[in-house]
Amino acid sequence: MGKIMLEVKDLKTKYITRFHEDVYSVDGVSLTIEEGKSLGIAGESGCGKSTLALSLMGYYFAPLHYVSGDIIVDGRNISGMNPDDVRKNILGNEIAYIPQAAMNALNPTQKIIRFIEDVIHAHDKSMSKKDIYDMAKERFAILGLPEDVLQKHAVELSGGMKQRTVIAISTILSPKVLIADEPSSALDVTSQKMVIKMMRDLMEKGYIKSMIFITHELPLLYNVTDDIMVMYAGRIVEKASAKDMVFDPLHPYSKGLMGSIIVPEEGVRDHKLTAIPGTPPNLKHPPEGCRFADRCKYATPTCKAMDPQTIELPNGRMYSCLMSERKLREVYANE
Ligand SMILES: Nc1ncnc2c1ncn2[C@@H]1O[C@H](COP(=O)(O)OP(=O)(O)O)[C@@H](O)[C@H]1O
Ligand SMILES: [Mg+2]
Repeated sequence: MGKIMLEVKDLKTKYITRFHEDVYSVDGVSLTIEEGKSLGIAGESGCGKSTLALSLMGYYFAPLHYVSGDIIVDGRNISGMNPDDVRKNILGNEIAYIPQAAMNALNPTQKIIRFIEDVIHAHDKSMSKKDIYDMAKERFAILGLPEDVLQKHAVELSGGMKQRTVIAISTILSPKVLIADEPSSALDVTSQKMVIKMMRDLMEKGYIKSMIFITHELPLLYNVTDDIMVMYAGRIVEKASAKDMVFDPLHPYSKGLMGSIIVPEEGVRDHKLTAIPGTPPNLKHPPEGCRFADRCKYATPTCKAMDPQTIELPNGRMYSCLMSERKLREVYANE
């Protein structure tokens, strides 16, 4: 087993709305990522993926609040740390975070090199502009980005180039964990492929030591990540290797997310999402028992009354459902 870069134990966080209501968007999430590994997180819109990404940084501001649990980055527990320390000592160099739609948030009138100076100076005021430029130039070249981008403004870049630039800026300090929230979702297919290639390059070249890739498109993760977790209503319902999750999903929700069109020789092609009837529950009032039960065609009255057990299989695969692996395989085989 490799060195553990990120370990999260039973993390719970919540939003407190203007009307003082609690929204339990991350409700007991645990995960582990080893050095050199990438983890995908998939789930429909509203399942809590972005909230999980924010929560993992240990940097909380209203309306999001930490409730309980541990976040351990390369052996250091950051969950009780004060926000100033997290900002100064963790963000950027230990954990880098690329928020959803990050490319649209770049100040359009600032030169790209200035963003890089900001990231570096937040941690190391002593580095000269010349050294920063040289470092950025080298990193951009290795990642296949043209050097002249450094002197451009965000507004001058195409969507795909802007997104790759954002990723290069965010990872300039070679963080231990990169958390990328839907980094390719807003892009055309060609740009999407380039972004994914760049994320893989960052891992292979050791500029990031581990990665979390979040998307609502489960099949996309097959080519990007080692393991995949599926999130539903603030909880993880299944964790498996990318291959098992994509070709042999066990939890009925993962199975629904995978859709039906799979061409094994070519990986996943034409991945249409099978519409799962209904919508995720409102997290202000999550249902009793299995949160997916209302939408699950196999649910029994027990599912709505009892929390599902989490079953861990010998190969480390895990899923939360009242049905045994054998029973699940049996019902799928009979469809
Ligand atoms: N600022 C907020 N205040 C209250 N609730 C929020 C806020 N942001 C998100 N939520 C709720 O948290 C849940 C998870 O949202 P989010 O993490 O954005 O999901 P995802 O990224 O999977 O689409 C949703 O039910 C959403 O309504
Ligand atoms: Mg999101």
